[in-house]
Amino acid sequence: MKYINLFAQELYAACDEKLGKEEIVQRIEKPKHEELGDYAFPCFDLARMKRETPKRIAANIASRIHSAHFEKVEAVGPYINVFLKKETVAYEVVRKILQEGNHYGTSNLGKGGAVTIDLSSPNIAKPFSMGHLRSTVIGNALALILEKSGYRPVRINHLGDWGTQFGKLITAYRKWGNEAQVRQNTIKELLALYIKFHEEADLTPSLLDDGRKAFKSLEEGDPDAVALWKWFREESLQEFNRIYQLMGITFDSTNGEAFYNDKMQCVVELLEEKELLTESQGAMVVEVDDHLPPCLIKKKDGATLYATRDLAAALYRYETYGFNQALYVVGNEQSLHFKQVFKVLKKMGYEWADQMHHITFGMMLKDGKKMSTRKGKVVLLEEVLKEAIALAKENINTKNPLLKNKQIIAEQIGVGAVMFHDLKNDRRNDIDFSLEDMLRVEGETGPYVQYTNARACSILRKGQFQSEKNSSIIVDKEAWPIITRLNEFPMAVDRAVKEYDPSQVAKYVLDLSRSFNKYYGQTRILDDKTHMNARLKLVSAVSIVLTEGLRLLGLHAPEEM
Ligand code: ARG
Repeated sequence: MKYINLFAQELYAACDEKLGKEEIVQRIEKPKHEELGDYAFPCFDLARMKRETPKRIAANIASRIHSAHFEKVEAVGPYINVFLKKETVAYEVVRKILQEGNHYGTSNLGKGGAVTIDLSSPNIAKPFSMGHLRSTVIGNALALILEKSGYRPVRINHLGDWGTQFGKLITAYRKWGNEAQVRQNTIKELLALYIKFHEEADLTPSLLDDGRKAFKSLEEGDPDAVALWKWFREESLQEFNRIYQLMGITFDSTNGEAFYNDKMQCVVELLEEKELLTESQGAMVVEVDDHLPPCLIKKKDGATLYATRDLAAALYRYETYGFNQALYVVGNEQSLHFKQVFKVLKKMGYEWADQMHHITFGMMLKDGKKMSTRKGKVVLLEEVLKEAIALAKENINTKNPLLKNKQIIAEQIGVGAVMFHDLKNDRRNDIDFSLEDMLRVEGETGPYVQYTNARACSILRKGQFQSEKNSSIIVDKEAWPIITRLNEFPMAVDRAVKEYDPSQVAKYVLDLSRSFNKYYGQTRILDDKTHMNARLKLVSAVSIVLTEGLRLLGLHAPEEM
């Protein structure tokens, strides 16, 4: 970053302040080829302002730029190209990273502002779906990245733990349930009961009434119904917690939909007060213009809905956390829902509704097709994670059988592979599910980055690296791309924050890994004893940044694997 600003500063002075510093920074480009320098500035706009040819402007300005950090400044046609002084820059960048360690790239962009992040949010008594996996992994990475940039993330797991389906489940359990079985395998058993309920209801429609009644009694606080619901919730959570633990994910709040039961009446009253509620076919709705269908607040029978709970949750979160931004990491298919909710809040007069963002993501596909929750086709996340871990362990057993802590490291690799696979693409794209792809040690995978870091750590061990010793740094030809990438880490983090896009960090660590592996393949780091420690400084800086980059994505960086 610094060096871009330095160049911009020089340009600003040399162009007689015709352009502002920010405008200059925005126009600076990175040349396509290394031979063209490290930064380039096109002079077309300046030429227009000064009524001269871009070529003359470029030549004129280039001759006026001098800085201790630049090796060469040259005009090439309408461009001014600068070449950074490699030794100086390398020395500064590496020293900064070794000094700051894992704080490198930390900023105060967020100035301590709270950002609520609604993430994961699975529905209890149902399997944890791939959609919920995506929300969990993306939301967790965003929280870590925002935190590094000086925001205060609040991770909220808005559990789907309320709604008419629980009346059906209670009815089914009372009719056909078996306590021991449910205890043993909660989600599988409850799902089976739920499916059976629908099958039976096709034959005996009066069951649906029983389900409605059971939900009503639950809403009214009938102790027996409440006890069952609580039990389903707790057992489901235990299953989800196993998954969260494997992924190393924690929450600041697990207030789900049920938490807002006693907070919805207030929302309805507020809407009435503000004269926003209208009746439509017996239901109460809020019209939200912009060609959107109205937002449903209350059903004919008085039951409140998903949107009502989200409105109550938004008010509660604003009061409780005073958020500067509220993010909802939820799949594309709920776009309409969030548009409606944000609009209703805006109509209620809450300006902060402008700071609410639906962070969408694409679907997880299998063989190019949507994964269905219907029996047989659902891929259970816990099984996927276990399989990934088992494969990682097999790999260790063949490649490095004497490794210590095999199980822990296999977990870090296997789970990391699944998470990284999700994060490396722009979140809005659909992604294809493939365990083999995830676990590849070559190519764009988590294990590849982890392996690169482990390789760096091993070199450091073998060379008995001392971070204090001698302060020079050797810029071999292959080292320069590493230096420029290391320098760009803070910018990758900034981009990830601005676009709510963890893939910026994932792509960054892949890039740095590739540069490092190329360097490693071409440079005999440990053979040349006079320069060994200087080279190891670079290796150490790479390892620090890879480890921190992986951490921001929710992955571990084992030192051996
Ligand atoms: N439980 C919901 C589902 O699985 C997702 C909840 C998302 N968060 C929210 N505040 N609506 O579809």
